[in-house]
Amino acid sequence: MNPQAFLTLHRNLPREGPGEPADIEWLGRQISLPEGARICDNACGPGADIGPLLALAPGAHVTAIDINPQFLGQAAEQWGEDPRVDLLMGDMRDPGGPYDLIWCAGGVYMLGVREALEMWKPSLAEGGVVAFSEPCYFKYPPDSEVVEIWADYPQMSGEEGVGARVRAAGYETIATRRLSDDAWRAYYKPLMARMEELYEDADDDLREVLIAHAAEIKAWDEYGDDFGYLLSVVRPRADG
Ligand SMILES: C[S@@+](CC[C@H](N)C(=O)[O-])C[C@H]1O[C@@H](n2cnc3c(N)ncnc32)[C@H](O)[C@@H]1O
Repeated sequence: MNPQAFLTLHRNLPREGPGEPADIEWLGRQISLPEGARICDNACGPGADIGPLLALAPGAHVTAIDINPQFLGQAAEQWGEDPRVDLLMGDMRDPGGPYDLIWCAGGVYMLGVREALEMWKPSLAEGGVVAFSEPCYFKYPPDSEVVEIWADYPQMSGEEGVGARVRAAGYETIATRRLSDDAWRAYYKPLMARMEELYEDADDDLREVLIAHAAEIKAWDEYGDDFGYLLSVVRPRADG
């Protein structure tokens, strides 16, 4: 997939993966963050989660990190002047810290669950937690058509498999939640509107990207009950 064509399609979308404010409100009910909580939005994309993260604790501060200047630029349009937010162009592998919460929506699969959690341990403050969403088979074992959809991510597992990778990283799971259909729509609806807008004048590279995205959305339409994103809230184990 041509990266420039990908970015043309993804310009000015509100988010870069499934998610909704209700996920972060739910997270707030699972943990107790201190006043002035230090929060990292790791792989923040265009920054859709920054507002709900700031609302998790009085005086909270969010450090939002992404490697992509286009997405970070979008986040800066809303948050660039806000003293409660730092926007950093950088690598999610080394987010700095210490943080009371590392939030990562839809980014951990790029590193692997175990690898990401191990890497982020030194970035957590005492009592700190990680919350991340991860592609997951909700029907397990999955049908072959569904495995085919996720052929590029062979590490994908069922919910128990996510928990096993969390434990292997020396963490324990506090709570999990399946992302809702509304979370998917929050990503796909604006994406589909943008696809429609671009289709007629698309060159070959862009057309290829549009076709790949249309296939992804169709797969979710057909098999979306069998897979999704699992949001896990985890903390390092004392014996980890
Ligand atoms: C699936 S998107 C999710 C973005 C955002 N969390 C959201 O839900 O809208 C993954 C993001 O990870 C970013 N990314 C990819 N590799 C990265 C890296 N090594 N370090 C930081 N960000 C990275 C991409 O630029 C993209 O914004």
